Amino acid sequence: MEQTFIIIKPEAVRRGLVGEILRRFEAKGLTIARLELRQITEATAREHYAHHADKPFFPGLLRAITAGPSVLGVLEGPDCIRHVRNLAGATNPLEAQPGTIRGDFANELPYTIVHASDSPETAQAEIQRFFG
Ligand code: CDP
Ligand code: MG
Repeated sequence: MEQTFIIIKPEAVRRGLVGEILRRFEAKGLTIARLELRQITEATAREHYAHHADKPFFPGLLRAITAGPSVLGVLEGPDCIRHVRNLAGATNPLEAQPGTIRGDFANELPYTIVHASDSPETAQAEIQRFFG
């Protein structure tokens, strides 16, 4: 069965949105295979977002993802990688459609509420990185 990796980011944990976000994934028919509240270290954040290291928003992204505890999870189900990206919505909160997680809860970058793997290759690498 296909698996994907999610992070419910610190701003969402702080705002009490964990239950609401997990409810949406479960309502879509996805199964929670792993779930853990964990503070992401700066070293792990740098590795996870290494492909963005040269972007101007990288320092702010590192600060945001390490600002407090996150909820890390592995979700499972048919086509769950694409389903979870659809449920998350567009990266830019101004472009995320109402009804998506970001469309409903994200206000400004870099605070995008959730991370979700974007391909089978990244899902496998991210599950290994955080739950290996
Ligand atoms: O999270 P997603 O895969 O949708 O987007 P990304 O392009 O891989 O960017 C990763 C994260 O960097 C986003 O979720 C934002 O937190 C942050 N970001 C930002 O602060 N400003 C941007 N212009 C693009 C991304
Ligand atoms: Mg991405």
